[in-house]
Amino acid sequence: MLLFIVWSVSAQQCDQPLKAARFDCHPEPSVTSEKCLARKCCWQPQMRSMIQLFKNTSSNSAGINVPSCYYPRDFPTYQVKTNEPTAFGQRLTIIKQQSTYMPNEILSLTVDLIYETAQRFRLRIYDSTKKRFEVPLSVPVIQTKVNVTDYDVSISQKPFAILVKRKSTGITLFDSSVSPLIYADQFIRFSSYLSSPFLYGLGEHRQPLLINVTNEWRKLTFWTRDTPPVQNNNLYGVHAFHINLEKKNNTPNNFHGQFFLNSNAMDIDLQPLPAITYTTVGGIIDLYLFTGPTAQDVIQQYWDVIGKPTMPPYWSLGFHLCRYAYNSIDNLRAVIKRMHDAQFPYDVQWTDIDAMSSHLDFTYDKTTFNGLPDLVRALQAEGKHYVNIIDPGISSTQPSGTYLPYDDGLKRAIFMTKFNSTQPIIGKVWPGLTAFPDFTNENSIEWWTNVAATFHDIIPFDGIWIDMNEPSNFVDGSHVGCTNNSLDNPPFVPHVLGNTLYAFTVCPSAQQALSSHYNLHNMYGYFEARATNLALKTIRHKRPFVLSRSSFAGSGQFTAHWTGDNNSTFEDMYFSIPAIISFNIFGIPNTGADICGFGLDTTEELCTRWMQLGAFYPFMRNHNAGKDQDPAVFSWTAQQIMKQALLMRYSFIPFWYTLHHQAAMASKTLVQPLHFEFPNDDNTIGIDQQFLIGRAILVSPNLVSNTTVVHAYIPQDVWYEFPSGSQVKDVGIFTDLDAPLEKINVHIRGGFIIPMQIPGDNLMMGRGNPFTLLVAQSISGNATGNLFWDDGDSLDSIETKTYNYFEFSCSLNTLTINAIVANYKDSPMRLELVRILGVSKPVMSVNVNGKEHNGFFYNIPDQILVVHSLDMDMLVQSIQKIEWTTAH
Ligand code: NOJ
Repeated sequence: MLLFIVWSVSAQQCDQPLKAARFDCHPEPSVTSEKCLARKCCWQPQMRSMIQLFKNTSSNSAGINVPSCYYPRDFPTYQVKTNEPTAFGQRLTIIKQQSTYMPNEILSLTVDLIYETAQRFRLRIYDSTKKRFEVPLSVPVIQTKVNVTDYDVSISQKPFAILVKRKSTGITLFDSSVSPLIYADQFIRFSSYLSSPFLYGLGEHRQPLLINVTNEWRKLTFWTRDTPPVQNNNLYGVHAFHINLEKKNNTPNNFHGQFFLNSNAMDIDLQPLPAITYTTVGGIIDLYLFTGPTAQDVIQQYWDVIGKPTMPPYWSLGFHLCRYAYNSIDNLRAVIKRMHDAQFPYDVQWTDIDAMSSHLDFTYDKTTFNGLPDLVRALQAEGKHYVNIIDPGISSTQPSGTYLPYDDGLKRAIFMTKFNSTQPIIGKVWPGLTAFPDFTNENSIEWWTNVAATFHDIIPFDGIWIDMNEPSNFVDGSHVGCTNNSLDNPPFVPHVLGNTLYAFTVCPSAQQALSSHYNLHNMYGYFEARATNLALKTIRHKRPFVLSRSSFAGSGQFTAHWTGDNNSTFEDMYFSIPAIISFNIFGIPNTGADICGFGLDTTEELCTRWMQLGAFYPFMRNHNAGKDQDPAVFSWTAQQIMKQALLMRYSFIPFWYTLHHQAAMASKTLVQPLHFEFPNDDNTIGIDQQFLIGRAILVSPNLVSNTTVVHAYIPQDVWYEFPSGSQVKDVGIFTDLDAPLEKINVHIRGGFIIPMQIPGDNLMMGRGNPFTLLVAQSISGNATGNLFWDDGDSLDSIETKTYNYFEFSCSLNTLTINAIVANYKDSPMRLELVRILGVSKPVMSVNVNGKEHNGFFYNIPDQILVVHSLDMDMLVQSIQKIEWTTAH
């Protein structure tokens, strides 16, 4: 029998003068005093701030404020009933005496406190009696707790709450006592203090890199959705992970991370207390805390849980060109020819849905794109690669026996089905009515591989672009709508664009092999990326390249990502930087934005600036839906500037490739914000108009139209301008850098050695070209770097150790080249030239492996030593040395 105790709310219980400490008791729209008081909550109506009224922010936006309806201090919640030590940590049972305001509250819960590693703590709260849906990610399972941890966990019994502190500083990392836990079948809501109002992460959203809730309330919604990236909307991907800065006087700035492993639709609210509130419509509470203490440590600890990023094929690091509207093979040929004639380095040509026959997946239009297979083969013969688009919607209206993807899919029963039915749920996408493959069904992998392989026999594509995989559906739910059940119409709907969970997608009640679409929607792109990655491996027996629009935690194991349908504006160009940095944090480091802008027509100025910036994106693709914007279409001057940017990119490819290897092996991001490298310099907090590649290259693009200076921050360290090599004088300050149209500001950090290569027309053609080293000395004349190199395409070069790995170090006027692994000998590795920056005294002589070497010069004003004509085979012996003597 349910014990029902009546409680009423007293004025004293509502006395919360600190508005930032009020937690919303009525997160649904249209709250009134009656609705609030019916929940026995405190009612104090708040005016929306003037700023918000001016901004005219809508209900599904960040424009929330102090709640009018908030919890009284004694709002009923759980208390601890039992508490037992276990091998993994502790297990509690917690109970609540009475239901509150949501249907089907679960009054008896189990709480597991799992001490997974010294820096990783996991908190799981689930129904004590009934199994609930859990996210199908294969996370590490820890049976035995670690004894020594960087964190302390304590439990409040009555009411139940968990408190986690960092041992070394005493700073609170997690404290759920701030508001009552609500745990209902379709509504789970809990909150915690934040260590500071400064956060990074929580995507996919269009927002500046730093989420700063010092004076702001924010609502972020997580439900994958096909929509152009607009601020405050839920977008294509879901990553409920953030990094929180810990700030306390007299302690170094540490970082910790928090990951909510939950795939249901959710809102995350942030408020200036500072505090975070999670509201999800299903699953369980499965929360990870990562104690860092550096931001890169946090990321590494996070990727240990979700999986490390995939190592991309080498060719995919080059320049990619695409357009939605080539419309004919003649147009496509003309673009390829003018790119070739203008001698732009470029590697990958793409086609969009306009090359399909009637927008049908795995087809090409034999009339408008007659000869596409031969064109692809011709590109490949020149060392280039080709990627085509595939959407998940499979046409369901082709005459039976004429369209293998549908016929075979039906036979294998791999489509998502309607609620309580074995019939596919039918929606509408580009080709008309479509069924949606269920990539959680293991049989779908073979089906997908087969249909892709059949098409590969016709057009030997090198990679697959998976678009529209939120999944997008042009009719809400299905062509006949959705059910009235509580999956399609849950009691609480997070603040999603369109106000229903089926807006522009498939009915949540649709069934998938692993669970309902309600539970799996946010992972649709994840499972499609996995299936596509597996299919490509089977078909090509080479390292797969997949580009996915929708993503979830862990997608980086299978795919690269781009930021979707941006516009050709300077603002969009700026927003690409926080997006790319955030996706690096999310474990999909190989991310880019549509260079020059996807929607609207670009301008020559914007496209020039964007090609310069895009040359420093991990994934570099120029793609749009408007008029031609390939580099070769612009004026001679613009072309020269773009070519310069491309040559810069291509010369840095060995550095990029090594970074990819470090991402895949050692969980390091490819790009990062300055704040992660200079955590105790508060000037760097939130800088997102500049970024670092690895730890060594600082990029400061000009993001403002009609300007020739960039106001940029150069942190306190040794920096050299690239390409000149001269040392920057003013560091530790914001400074105006010269940035005329022909220049993108790039600086190399002292202490690092960057492996580079003389570019070829494309990456395959340039593979055997000579390498160079850029040695940027620290103040004391030291520097280190490394280089990973293999055939660029094998599935198992790392496992079989068929690669080369070099470590470079510079100290005491000696550069050492150490071939640690030298097993890949199919392509020459000749070091031709070394540039050493910051050599303060004139160089008198140079020795290479003990022999005098005359090929050098010393640039007095810029203090650069150039050693040329080296012709050194880096594989020939394990240790080689370049030494120099200087004047006293
Ligand atoms: C939407 C994608 O975001 C865009 O890049 C693509 O060009 C169109 N779909 C057409 O396929």
